[in-house]
Formats: sequence, structure tokens, C-alpha cells
Amino acid sequence: MSVKKITVVGAGHVGATCSQLLSQKELAREVILVDIAEGIPQGKGLDQWESAPIEGFDSRVTGSNNYESSAGADIFIVTAGIARKPGMSRDDLLKINAGVMRAVTTEIKRVAPDSIIIVVTNPLDVMAQVALETSGFPRERVIGMAGVLDTARYRSFIALELDVSIEDIQALVLGGHGDTMVPLASYTSVSGIPLTQLLSQERIDALVERTRKGGGEIVAHLKTGSAYYAPAAAAVQMAEAIVKDKRRILPCAAWLQGEFGMKDLYLGVPCMLGENGLERIIEVDLDDEEKAALETSAEHVRSTVAALKALE
Ligand code: NAI
Ligand code: 2OP
Repeated sequence: MSVKKITVVGAGHVGATCSQLLSQKELAREVILVDIAEGIPQGKGLDQWESAPIEGFDSRVTGSNNYESSAGADIFIVTAGIARKPGMSRDDLLKINAGVMRAVTTEIKRVAPDSIIIVVTNPLDVMAQVALETSGFPRERVIGMAGVLDTARYRSFIALELDVSIEDIQALVLGGHGDTMVPLASYTSVSGIPLTQLLSQERIDALVERTRKGGGEIVAHLKTGSAYYAPAAAAVQMAEAIVKDKRRILPCAAWLQGEFGMKDLYLGVPCMLGENGLERIIEVDLDDEEKAALETSAEHVRSTVAALKALE
């Protein structure tokens, strides 16, 4: 374990699941849960550590209501905020979560100025921008999690539809995290076989639509909150790529500086993740329809940023 410390901010559904996965995978010597709720991070941290003898991991899990024990942490996964309830859009969370993100990022900058931040809190693309601006960190060290989750949902639906192994499905979902996300049929294959050779356009369209609404589908079932198992797995996969310097190419929200013809906004694009965080953005060819869909998605992110500025 070369990474010594990973802190998960927000010990709720997503955050606690992240710390469980991080410790079970031994991705850091210390895994710390931080939350404002008194006793919750301490209780969940201790409970998870007590599973260590059974699961056989040596990552020490602890919980705290402050950031002192996170001094010098290598990675922060930020899940703090409020989650969607039925009838709420991700953007309804805007103002409350922007305040949370500023408070959290200010603390991260104070105790661990060289750390890498993986943002999970919604609305994702905008919260990543708040974290970037508040921290003053370079874009390489502030990355948003959404595309890995959206791609996982798309792949899971394709596997069900074709009744094939999940391991053989490659896919790419770009754009903002929301109903305007852009699943790319042209970059989706099953063991190298283009999806278009295996499914009709009508079925592909139906799977794309289900992927776009994937977050809402879970909210409709749960009624009191939103998804957390797949989101946590997605954030931890990003952390693992960084910790192990795997140089994996994963769809993540990155601060664009001209890539895909866009500037000064977070949007889901193919990213190489390694020890420095965002190692580079991989630009891929898009057809006219995909370009238009990405632009619509970008416009939604821009309008949410503008809505936040107008609220403040
Ligand atoms: P949750 O309500 O279970 O947990 C949120 C936790 O944040 C609570 O324990 C709360 O006490 C804590 N918190 C609030 N303010 C805080 C602060 N200032 N400092 C530290 N902790 C604070 O919510 P859940 O389900 O864990 O979701 C967390 C966030 O992640 C939500 O914004 C949700 O929309 C988002 N999310 C994003 C996904 C993505 O793909 N990017 C996927 C799933 C969830
Ligand atoms: C999701 O996609 C709520 O953003 C969260 O499940």
C-alpha cells in the first residue's frame, strides 16, 4: 500500500459504502470517514473496522467530525451533502450542496493541500467546479465521478438484454451527469463486436433511455434516497486507478480546457487516471449527432452553473 490515507467526506449511504470497499480492497493504510453528524462516522468506522478480522484487511477505518486526522491525506472522496428524494432533480440540490462543498473543500485545502479530490456530491459537474474554484487545486487533482457509474449502468442493462457476461461489455457514456448524458453506441461493443450488430436500433435506444433515467429508477424504488452501491463502487474504482497508478481510461468529469471544443466547464469525457490524478483527457471522434448531444449536455451544465451564480 503506497497510499497511506484516504478520507471519505460524508458518512451516509455512498460515503460509508465507499469506506467499506476501500478498506476491503486495502487501497490505503488508513481509511477515514468524516461527517458533521455526531457519532455517525465514529460508529460506522468502528463497525467496519470490526469486520476486518472476518474480511482479512489491514486498512484501519476510523471516523471523525473534524479533519485533523486527515492531515496529509492522499485522496478525498467527497460525498457530503443531501441526496435526491422523489420529485427532486439533481439541480434542486444546488444551493445546499454548493455550501457544503465549499466548507468541505476549504478544510481539505487546509489539512492536505497536495491531495487529490474525487467529487461525488450532486449536481456533480457543478459541484466539481465549486471544489476546483474553492481549492485552487490544478484540474489534475479535482475529478468528478459520474461517467463510471453511468457507463456501469449502461453495461449492466446490455448484459441483461443479451444475457452475456458483464466482463465482455465495453461502453462509453459521456456528458454531464443527468438526463442529458450521452451514451455512445458507436463506442459500445461486446468482446469487440459492435453493439449495432447484436441489437436493433430500437432496443439500443431503449437501453440508452433506461441509462439516462438510471438514477431516477433507483430513487423511485427506494423512495427515501438515491443509489449508493454502484456509485460507491464507481468512486472507489477511480481511487484504485490513482492509488495503483493504473493509467486506466475511465469516463470522468474533467475541467475542459479546449478538449472537445469546450472550455471552462466540467463534463464527462474519457480520462486517463494515474498517480497524478487526471493524467490526460482522451479526445475521441464523434459523429454530428453525438457532438450535438454533447453540446446539449454541456449547455445544461452551463445553465446550472449560471443558476448557482444567480442564487448567490
Ligand atoms: P446521505 O444523505 O446518505 O449522506 C450524506 C452525508 O453527508 C450525511 O451523512 C450528512 O450528514 C453528510 N454531510 C452533510 N453536510 C456535511 C458537511 N458539511 N460535512 C460533512 N458531511 C456532511 O446521501 P448519499 O446517498 O450518501 O449521497 C451523497 C451525495 O452523493 C448526494 O449529493 C447524492 O446526490 C450524490 N450522489 C452522486 C452520484 C454521482 O454519480 N455523482 C451517485 C449517487 C449519489
Ligand atoms: C444517481 O445517478 C443520484 O446521481 C445519483 O444515482
